[in-house]
Amino acid sequence: MHPQTRAIHAGRSIDPASKAVAPPIVLSTTFEHAPDSTYERYLYSRYDNPNRNALEECVAGLENGAAGIAFASGMAAAMAVVHGLKSGDHVIAPADCYFTIRRLLTELYGGWGLEASFVDMSNLDAVQAAVRPTTRLVWTETPSNPGLFLTDIAAVAKIAHNAGAICVCDNTWATPLLQKPLDLGCDIAMHSSTKYLAGHSDVLGGILLFKEKGALYERLKTYQKVSGAVPSPFDCWLVLRSISTLPQRVAAHCDNAEKVAQFLEAHPKIEKVHYPGLPSNRFHELAKRQMTRFGGMLSVEVKGGWDPAVALCANVKLFTCATSLGAVESLIEHRASTEGPDSPTPHGLVRLSIGLEHPDDLIADLVQALG
Ligand SMILES: Cc1ncc(COP(=O)(O)O)c(C=O)c1O
Repeated sequence: MHPQTRAIHAGRSIDPASKAVAPPIVLSTTFEHAPDSTYERYLYSRYDNPNRNALEECVAGLENGAAGIAFASGMAAAMAVVHGLKSGDHVIAPADCYFTIRRLLTELYGGWGLEASFVDMSNLDAVQAAVRPTTRLVWTETPSNPGLFLTDIAAVAKIAHNAGAICVCDNTWATPLLQKPLDLGCDIAMHSSTKYLAGHSDVLGGILLFKEKGALYERLKTYQKVSGAVPSPFDCWLVLRSISTLPQRVAAHCDNAEKVAQFLEAHPKIEKVHYPGLPSNRFHELAKRQMTRFGGMLSVEVKGGWDPAVALCANVKLFTCATSLGAVESLIEHRASTEGPDSPTPHGLVRLSIGLEHPDDLIADLVQALG
């Protein structure tokens, strides 16, 4: 089936009891046993829940995966993967990645003896050189947050597997519509479903999608059941409902972002635009190879650095100056301010999540905000 069809039908069926077309929300935490005290499908909702299972099945279908495991946030999903490692294991992660992933690997698990190297993953030699005998996980994020670096997923997955490590791709910014990490060799694709999957800035969630329903899946399924960082049935229902329109939303996000990126590239107060859809962008050829379109996220470096960048975020009227991304409304943010004093992000970098407003209105807002 085509993605538009899967987005609407995968994981859904008519409710046999009520014949409801929209799936009922199953709030029950517990399910009745059979007379012999066995159970068929559901035991307790930390283990499994119909709304969660429907979401997992749908996103796994969109990613060409064999199975999915949903969590209460993107970070809970990432933590599940990292928690499967042990003291002394080594992780390779992108130098430009979502800053809380860096904090997870260093502040939380560094204290448990996990070792992490952060490398520029656009440089395959650097990825290869970072490999150690103890490397067990290669974490990729492409396009990356906030610098929109691209990683050659197939090449890095090969390096990971040759090293005896698993390869994971945080596919949040590309969505399952624009990029298929599992087809490119990754073992797990991950999403913060808080972003494009949910798409309306009103629900937190995370999900892991597996190429195979094998030992790795089983280990993480056990982690989900035992650790309990699961999303509520209502949150799963909301995300699944939003996914029905994901293909149309993503197409419109891409249309708008391409126009805004072209406008900003020509603006005299902008030093650089980071958007892989621009032919001038150094990742344009790789993006054309491994993505179907270029996404709704971009970042710019404002001439003059910190102060003019902060001023741009303060001056917008239609964009909202707020963190997060992937929703219907456009957001803008001075990234180094959000990331804090240790942020490696350039001081003049402003991140834009391009929403579904009319692109001319977004551009008009940027014209007045840039002055
Ligand atoms: C690329 C990426 N990965 C992971 C996360 C974490 O997701 P969550 O906020 O749902 O925990 C984010 C959040 O911004 C993100 O942008």
